[in-house]
Amino acid sequence: MNSIETYTEIINKALSGILYTTEPSGLYTPIKYQLDMGGKRVRPLLAVMACDALGGDISEVIQPAIGIEIFHNFTLLHDDVMDKADIRRGRPTVHKAWSENVAILSGDAMQIIAYQKIGETPRDRLKEVLCHFTEIALEICEGQQYDMEFEMRSNVTEEEYIEMIRLKTAVLMGCALKIGAIVARASQAEIEALYRFGENLGMAFQLQDDYLDVYGDPIKFGKNIGGDILNNKKTYMLISACRIAAGAEKEELLRLLQTAATDPNAKIKAVTAIYTKLGIDHLARQKMDLYYQNAIKELDIIPDNLLLKRFSAELMQRQS
Ligand code: IPE
Ligand code: IPE
Ligand code: MG
Ligand code: MG
Ligand code: MG
Repeated sequence: MNSIETYTEIINKALSGILYTTEPSGLYTPIKYQLDMGGKRVRPLLAVMACDALGGDISEVIQPAIGIEIFHNFTLLHDDVMDKADIRRGRPTVHKAWSENVAILSGDAMQIIAYQKIGETPRDRLKEVLCHFTEIALEICEGQQYDMEFEMRSNVTEEEYIEMIRLKTAVLMGCALKIGAIVARASQAEIEALYRFGENLGMAFQLQDDYLDVYGDPIKFGKNIGGDILNNKKTYMLISACRIAAGAEKEELLRLLQTAATDPNAKIKAVTAIYTKLGIDHLARQKMDLYYQNAIKELDIIPDNLLLKRFSAELMQRQS
């Protein structure tokens, strides 16, 4: 068992070597920019840790693991266009630093490179890994579509939100762990337990991302605070606030949701104040903890689960 730092170094080294071609630089420089600007590397770390925990050879999982990370970064390039987000990891997003067209095409190329890397899975595991990854990749698109459609709807239920974040975020965490387990030639029970661990952890992770989008420190979080509020994203916090608010507060919340924000900062401030008054911040943390607890339970059948446990506990304390 290695440390998280060692695994991160291995992943970053593999990622830095993926581009053999540099021309046209207008296509490849943004890819390098996106992959070099950091990120927590959560998904490849989960894949490598899963493989190691199950006694696999981690050198066999590195390429699919970085394929997953490249795919994740591709989704971010397009997501930042869709969410009109200007800052990520403390730096201008690709569509801001270059253009929307660049974010689309460099994103497309990243998706192709991701598949190329997944294709480097050991031959006897390749079909299973590719089938699973493809299924998950499509689910992420479904989740992103619901996320956008919900911006325009005012009657989104908690159940719909939960399914949307499962698709857009949680399944890729499950996928990373499952691929790590498949490469380690684990038993079907272990593979499925790790998938469920990742899915539940991913649910907690997205609930936390939504929480940090309101209550995070913009410097540490690396993204602009309040983006979800400005986009009328139907987060657990907004759905809960709409359910709990009453009287003048409810009217104020509905008014804030219906009017285009002429003063974005004022809208962010007003919605945040309502959340805080209603105790939505605590509610969100509780919901997050529920999924985290469900996640941890799944690790019981994994013999060497110490690092996965430590990593997920630390993730729940993250500020970035
Ligand atoms: C951001 O994911 C997108 C979400 C699913 C919330 P991360 O928070 O893992 O982003 P990086 O890669 O660490 O920047
Ligand atoms: C992103 O969710 C999920 C995917 C990119 C698939 P968010 O839109 O909340 O992620 P951030 O906050 O921009 O990182
Ligand atoms: Mg989004
Ligand atoms: Mg976004
Ligand atoms: Mg977010």
